[in-house]
Amino acid sequence: MQTGWAGQYIERHAVLDSTNNRAKQLGREGAPHGMLVVADLQTAGKGRRGRSWLTKSGEAIAMTVLLRPTLKPEQISPLTLVAALAVNRAVQKTTGLRTQIKWPNDIVANGKKICGILTEMSMEAGCVAYVVIGIGINIGQKEWPQELQTKATSVLMETGRLTEQDAVIAETMRQFEYYYEVFMQDKAMTSLRKEYAEQLVNMGREVYVDQPGNGFCGICEGIDEDGRLLVRDEQGNAQAIFAGEVSVRGIYGYV
Ligand code: BTN
Repeated sequence: MQTGWAGQYIERHAVLDSTNNRAKQLGREGAPHGMLVVADLQTAGKGRRGRSWLTKSGEAIAMTVLLRPTLKPEQISPLTLVAALAVNRAVQKTTGLRTQIKWPNDIVANGKKICGILTEMSMEAGCVAYVVIGIGINIGQKEWPQELQTKATSVLMETGRLTEQDAVIAETMRQFEYYYEVFMQDKAMTSLRKEYAEQLVNMGREVYVDQPGNGFCGICEGIDEDGRLLVRDEQGNAQAIFAGEVSVRGIYGYV
């Protein structure tokens, strides 16, 4: 692990319910900033919006990094975009694939999802106690259940090769440490906005913003310093979209 702090302490499990759950337990018990939890198999992997996330043994990476950031609760949400930048670069470097980011934090290859990220925060007395960032990367899947066939892919399906999981994990930690430290200089996406926009799959394209009672179409113009997606609506107004429960997709499908 070529890092100063990210992934310097690692717990590796054959089976866990969820690496996020184990990292939260370690967070409560006082484990250090940068501690990494990895599992070969998750029995109750969690996705965003209460969905489940499948991690079969040998097929996918399930990893969670524990952070103790000196940030206010309202500054935490862009950390998930920082993680997306890191995984995107790490997958590019270790597999040669031309991956991109789908805001806020999916990584896609050829229009299909290859990685998902789930960030959870714990507060104590109004302050951030710790944050866990869970990363699931599809490496060796050869097929998907029917409902995922048009949406999901894996490194094997895209390249025909199996990439060494440990190399991807180590590179993800190396990239994450770099982007996290850049982020922490401003405690915002100020210096990372441009690079994030360059990696954004929807950049300059028409997207549909699916928000309760107020969905609209517009052109994606990148992100602001807080990590909100900038979408110019049909009236020409730039709207800043906060991740939360909103989903953004291409008008013809997932991207
Ligand atoms: C998504 O819905 O896109 C987020 C998926 C996040 C999955 C990862 S796998 C490792 C970590 N442990 C979990 O239970 N979830 C995250």
